[in-house]
Amino acid sequence: MSTTALARPLAQGDAGAPVRRRVTSHRLAQMHAAREPIVMLTCYDASFAQVLDEATIDLMLIGDSLGMVLQGKPDTLSVTLDEIVYHTRCVAAGTQYAMVVADLPFASYEASPEQAFASASRLLAAGAHMVKLEGGEWVAPTVSFLAARGIPVCAHIGFTPQSVHALGGYRVQGREPADADRLLAAARALADAGARLVLMEMIPAALAGQITAELGQATAARAAVPTIGIGAGNQCSGQVLVLHDLLGVSSGVRPRFSKNFMLGCRSVADAVKAYADAVRNGTFPGPEHSF
Ligand code: KIV
Repeated sequence: MSTTALARPLAQGDAGAPVRRRVTSHRLAQMHAAREPIVMLTCYDASFAQVLDEATIDLMLIGDSLGMVLQGKPDTLSVTLDEIVYHTRCVAAGTQYAMVVADLPFASYEASPEQAFASASRLLAAGAHMVKLEGGEWVAPTVSFLAARGIPVCAHIGFTPQSVHALGGYRVQGREPADADRLLAAARALADAGARLVLMEMIPAALAGQITAELGQATAARAAVPTIGIGAGNQCSGQVLVLHDLLGVSSGVRPRFSKNFMLGCRSVADAVKAYADAVRNGTFPGPEHSF
């Protein structure tokens, strides 16, 4: 794709049609209040960012999954902050409408809230509008520290890939009652600490529904918080997939929760649109993608 194509403004629709605006934290809250499903997808470069933008993806995630899908590594653990900064710049350059969410990679935020602030500020300077970090209740003070300093945070709970070795492999979390209680308590603590989104990976659909219902209620101390699911059933406020899984180009075993949307589609743009439509009309994920 030429640089001219990337710089070209996207179509605005017919005269009189509503003008499309950038998805912001405020817009996310409006979507949540109106029960509009939120569509999120990973993205790592400017060309795909333009395709995803045209397909009306609401949130683009520069995920540390890039360690696997771009670099061919077995897990996300070796991805560096410099690499996420680089890919965030690329995605931000190709995006006009989506909110850009960037992952804080392993060892870039766990040591202290100050370390998290230093790392997150680099991601915001690279063009991110929100940062994502993994962890349970223990990370709530960091979320609160970032939120108080104007950094919107998405908290990632359930199966957290940066803890793959501690969790004993790629396993569904929250099946046992004590684990489910721990995840519910973590979700509450993270929402109370100021997380703007809670992403849940590989947890039972019923638990994800319970967490979504609870966080969806504003309290005296905080606004309602939308949830995003991946392998967490269809009762979440929105869904996310890894772009390469959606396009059927990931190597290795396809995770049960993903779907190859290229099947039956003639182009990448059509596959991404089919995903966005399926999330918005509630047909993805189905029971076969859930636990
Ligand atoms: O890194 C990533 O792509 C993610 C998704 C699996 C949500 O965190």
